[in-house]
Amino acid sequence: MALWGGPALSAEPAAARFPIVTQTEDGAPIPRSAGLPYAPKNLPDRIVLTPGSDPAREMAVAFRTDTAQAESRAQIAVSVDGPTLEEKARLVGGKSMPVDSSYGRALYHHIRFTGLTPDTVYTYRVKGAAGWSEWYQFRTAADDAKPFRFLYLGDIQNGILTYASRVIRQAFHANGDIRLVVHAGDLVAQRDDLDHDDEWGEWNQAGGYNYAIVPQVPATGNHEYVDDVQPDGSEVYRLGPYWPAQFALPANGAGPVKATTYYTDYQGVRFIVLDGTAAINLGSMQAQTDWLDRTLASSKANWNVVLFHQPVFTCARPNDTAEIKAAWKPVFDKRKVDLVLQGHDHCYSRLTSEAGREASAQARADGTVQGPVYLVSVTGSKMYALNDRTPWQPDKVAEATELYQIVDVDPKKIRFRTFTASGKLYDGFDLERTGDGNRLIEIDEPTLAARRCTGDVGPDGGACVARAK
Ligand SMILES: [Fe+2]
Repeated sequence: MALWGGPALSAEPAAARFPIVTQTEDGAPIPRSAGLPYAPKNLPDRIVLTPGSDPAREMAVAFRTDTAQAESRAQIAVSVDGPTLEEKARLVGGKSMPVDSSYGRALYHHIRFTGLTPDTVYTYRVKGAAGWSEWYQFRTAADDAKPFRFLYLGDIQNGILTYASRVIRQAFHANGDIRLVVHAGDLVAQRDDLDHDDEWGEWNQAGGYNYAIVPQVPATGNHEYVDDVQPDGSEVYRLGPYWPAQFALPANGAGPVKATTYYTDYQGVRFIVLDGTAAINLGSMQAQTDWLDRTLASSKANWNVVLFHQPVFTCARPNDTAEIKAAWKPVFDKRKVDLVLQGHDHCYSRLTSEAGREASAQARADGTVQGPVYLVSVTGSKMYALNDRTPWQPDKVAEATELYQIVDVDPKKIRFRTFTASGKLYDGFDLERTGDGNRLIEIDEPTLAARRCTGDVGPDGGACVARAK
């Protein structure tokens, strides 16, 4: 069992790089969560499992303790069915990094479990100063393209505990054996509407133990970056301190942005994660585009799924994301990417043809191969109004609606289903692989009619909560 092998953790305390912000620019206090439940303790919390490059053989865990637990410790065993895990388990070490917040200093620990056996159930637990966590159980990926199910979530970001939690819990409650969760960025807002540490506390509480037993595949959004004010008063985007602390990700990404780009191969699917903010704002577009092309070229997977935040085709903004559309869409087309999963727009869109819904339907009627399919979705409570292209361009859209997506993958077929927060089927399609490409098949199960605001009235009959972007 190898020790830490991921991206280097900074030895520099986060406080030196990110002063703790307790008030807004106007001097108003930044609110904390009611009841102050999120201070670091002498037992582990914020326990998040992530896949290695090869999740048949490697997983990793990140978790938080108070500073009394200086050493990073986990135990792991192949699962047995009686209460004898402690006697079977091996001790594994890792590395820790401090993160300073308004609650004082915490330690985040990263531990990698390597040399695992494919398609095998393991159990692990992690240590705080006062004792161990409960045992958490996960299954490694199979070595072959065995069918599996994953969950795709758009921006959680706002109303994280208040609103987004019920969507995540509904997704898990209604759908068994979810094997991965992919997040299309903006997991939190990381602005001034809630103490940043509390936001991550809410994010962890919203998903709870599901994050410790199902590997998480997160992409960064613009809100994972913070405005770092320089001595001269200028502002620079910097990745916030929580991202590298909270996720022990594979170190296989694009050179200058290894903390936020990576891929993982899961049972016949290559998931490729890009960082749109670093590409657009921090000068790594070309490096990411080259890496994307190489990573698609080397993929042996049946399906290639690309995940990032700022969408190629927007459902809320006046214009598409020009930089990403110019750089990445040609690569998606050339390399025949199957699904592009995105967030950022706080609306729902499924788009198959830039020429619009009718052209897309005609292509299906003609038996033409289609793809990639571009998705945008949202989990949390912030909502943007649909733009003026949504009446004709995407295959289906939604406004002012919280959603989750369940995707079932077979070697020759992807079954994509979108559900509303209360579990109603909203949209869906099947992608079938043929000799010359993918055919998209609209489902014949009944789905809800398109949800939109009508004037000031929302789709649920009350106020329209979607605001123009
Ligand atoms: Fe967002």
